[in-house]
Amino acid sequence: MALSRVMRFGLRMTSFPLLLSCVLLVSQVCSVSRDNFKRCDQSGFCKRHRAVDPGHSPYISLFDTLDIQPSQISVELLNTKNNVRLRLELFGLQHQTTRIKINEVNPLKPRYEIPVGDVLNAEPQQDTLTVVEKNDDHITLSLEKSIIVLNREPFRIDFINDDEPTVSINAQGLLKFEHLRKKKEDSQEKKEENEEEKASCAEEEVQEEDEPDMWEETFKSFHDSKPNGPTSVGLDVSFPGFEHVYGIPEHAESMALKSTKSSDPYRLFNLDVFEYELYNPMALYGAVPVMLAHNEKRTVGIFWHNAAETWVDIASNVADKTFFSKMADLVKGSTELPQTDTHWFSESGIIDLFIMLGPEPSDVFSQYGQLTGTTPIPPLFGIAYHQCRWNYNDEDDIRNVDAKFDEYDLPMDLLWLDIEHTDGKRYFTWDGSKFSHPDEMVKNLTVKGRKLVTIVDPHLKKDDSYSVYSEAKSQNHLVKNKDGSEYEGWCWPGSSGWPDFLNPEVRKWWASKFAYSSYAGSSKDLHVWNDMNEPSVFNGPEVTFQKDVLHYGGWENRDVHNLYGFYVHKATMDGLLERTGGEERPFLLTRAFFAGSQKFGAVWTGDNMASWDHLKISNPMILSLNLVGITFSGADVGGFFHNPDAELVTRWYQAGAFQPFFRAHAHLDTKRREPHLLPNANMLAIRDALQQRYSYLPYWYTLFYWGERNGGPVMMPLWVEFPKDKSTFSMDDQFMIGKALLVKPITEQGSTGTNVYFPGNDLWYDVESFQTYNGGDTTYVRAGLTKIPVFQRGGTIIPRKMRNRRSSTLMKSDPFTLFICLNREGEATGNLFIDDYHSYNYKNGKYILKGFNFRKNVLESVTGHKDYQTDEWIEKIVISGFQVQPSIAILKGSVSGQKELEVNYDIVEDNIIIRKPGVNIAENFKLILQP
Ligand SMILES: *[C@@H]1O[C@H](CO)[C@@H](O)[C@H](O)[C@H]1NC(C)=O
Repeated sequence: MALSRVMRFGLRMTSFPLLLSCVLLVSQVCSVSRDNFKRCDQSGFCKRHRAVDPGHSPYISLFDTLDIQPSQISVELLNTKNNVRLRLELFGLQHQTTRIKINEVNPLKPRYEIPVGDVLNAEPQQDTLTVVEKNDDHITLSLEKSIIVLNREPFRIDFINDDEPTVSINAQGLLKFEHLRKKKEDSQEKKEENEEEKASCAEEEVQEEDEPDMWEETFKSFHDSKPNGPTSVGLDVSFPGFEHVYGIPEHAESMALKSTKSSDPYRLFNLDVFEYELYNPMALYGAVPVMLAHNEKRTVGIFWHNAAETWVDIASNVADKTFFSKMADLVKGSTELPQTDTHWFSESGIIDLFIMLGPEPSDVFSQYGQLTGTTPIPPLFGIAYHQCRWNYNDEDDIRNVDAKFDEYDLPMDLLWLDIEHTDGKRYFTWDGSKFSHPDEMVKNLTVKGRKLVTIVDPHLKKDDSYSVYSEAKSQNHLVKNKDGSEYEGWCWPGSSGWPDFLNPEVRKWWASKFAYSSYAGSSKDLHVWNDMNEPSVFNGPEVTFQKDVLHYGGWENRDVHNLYGFYVHKATMDGLLERTGGEERPFLLTRAFFAGSQKFGAVWTGDNMASWDHLKISNPMILSLNLVGITFSGADVGGFFHNPDAELVTRWYQAGAFQPFFRAHAHLDTKRREPHLLPNANMLAIRDALQQRYSYLPYWYTLFYWGERNGGPVMMPLWVEFPKDKSTFSMDDQFMIGKALLVKPITEQGSTGTNVYFPGNDLWYDVESFQTYNGGDTTYVRAGLTKIPVFQRGGTIIPRKMRNRRSSTLMKSDPFTLFICLNREGEATGNLFIDDYHSYNYKNGKYILKGFNFRKNVLESVTGHKDYQTDEWIEKIVISGFQVQPSIAILKGSVSGQKELEVNYDIVEDNIIIRKPGVNIAENFKLILQP
């Protein structure tokens, strides 16, 4: 949760100048938000990079410095304006991936690079680069199916695939690298001293005039000392042939990114933004500097591996024909090509860019997954329904909410406790007067297969009697001011310190706090939520750390800002793993994130609002996260701030039921809105949405299995499945869950139906009525309050569990119903992943992977992998799209032998139903339908 609480807080603590104006507005609606956050024209380096004149790059590649190794080349780049030299290294990597690093040849001191093993899983595996041609003008290299051309003057790099340019580096000439320098006053003498030394160098560095904001900067009342002066780096990346780019979350923005010609660039800087506005490029809680470009022919991606504040400009353009015509032997055709230009700049660090060349969407996902890891399969309960609120007040409250879900037959797996459950916002503790029996409270939940989530934020109350704080202080684990003293800021507990999660020792210490012996009241059924980890600092500039606070290794927050939340999340996950010796899969949610955060658990889109607009934007926001690996993501169902009416809550549940992470949450000042409190019609519609979610859990779970293996999204835009269908390229109000489900949630007030676009050329089946729709059509679909427009694709088989239970855990042994929707050829396929749903044993092969194929009137169940015993069985098979109705079904099971089954025909739904095949789900069988 965010700042709005600060308003009441501010009344108590008058030392909140920043927020006072807000407090005076009295109500919750206090729209000072935007002014609290920097625009580009308030950021020195943003202004300087935006001011670079395109088309006049001062950089040339010095071919006499060229060093060619089997899988990497390096060459110096000379800035002909100031004679500063950079070193470019280009690495050929496996899976059609390239890495380009640019750093100073002789930096005054090291520049920050993200340690390998954290964001990047490991040093990426190299692949052979072959020199195809080298002349005075350019060098041509080949890497697998790609051609890479390094141009000498001006410096630029072009990637060519299938005779077409796909990615161009510095084609706009915007490379700008602010080399480390001494401040003028004290550098004058040194300069003279160095005069002789430098005479031996080929070129002498030309002193440039300082520009404003290079050595210090002020935003509002906050002064940023910049001891290292200007350190920013920037580069342009163009995508010839591409009109659509995606990714770089987190922004409250459409999925297809917009031109920033008349706005600020998209900003990536983890911030706690109060009541964020929609459809703008402002930074939010997380940052994933990954962009995808897609057209009918291919998908490519780039990953800007830099943890500092970053801005990205986007512009539509046309490709430079004259340049590509020079490469006539490499690039075919010279017709006008649309092109998207992007311009990336970060406040510090180095340029470290990965280029992932696809060509299929699935290739880019796996290429990126190879680099930063994939989302591990959540425990089954993690993808079930979560009931949260700031706050459930005490044990009675929890008991009552829990009981109401039972009374109204509403399935639910986790209840959540926000900050008020602690003893004065001291995390890892309980408010003893309200939660005096946490163990028993959790036990009472687990009886029904339910669990508890508690919040653990990274700010530590400055109170020497609070052991977590006093240990952190005495062990020197806290973030420091620039003068080396302990950093202090305001957050929920009042005056607070922040552990320096950049330090591996601090992360170990933090992880140890999750041991059962250390966290009283915790158990394997208590799971965790990291909030406020951007970090949020109520009295800091832009509600976060000063940029000159110091971290491990002497790095400034400026260098590492976007990694702080990533490391809070990582250290917490480490702790949750250690407490069970790595046996149980924990559930963990974070608000702040970076590239690679998918490895540690779920992400949500922060403090949204109870409005139709916010419901609507949850889809593109989660799609954007899914495209860049953060697949286990969701938005607060119902909206965090303000009170939704019953219709909005209902529609939000329906959308949430088909988004990967499904949690209702609400602000302290909102009215209670648990489903049973709503009018009966709404409660029933929500119950139906919850039950639908639970029935599809086997499908979701299987999707997460494939996601862990291959790196792909679970919720995705239509173009991922229909990459040649241009009409889907900017469609973000309907989406796919895996390959088999198409969803178009209702996000308009008062709506009783919606136009649905059915992609491809096969059939689509309404999952409730089994009415069919033709691919290629846009059709109006009625959707009254109880209806979620969800369609199963012809040619697919989805195993579901149709018995309603209180929680997913209680469904463990429930039987499956196979829903078979035939395509026009009368065929269908599907698969299913099964394990114990909660441990890591699947990593040792303890799982079952089944394949189902329906062809020529025969359903065959085959085993892809089987090293696990289960008592789950098949109770029903429903086949839709049958042309001629069979009269009997013969089942031939590998274990259960042969039997004849009755075939029933459902006239209303036009389905064939075969009841009680009774085979164990792991068993191989054939079901032969006969006339
Ligand atoms: C646990 O459940 C029992 C039986 O319903 C109840 O009496 C007890 O108060 C519950 N404990 C807590 C801490 O909620």
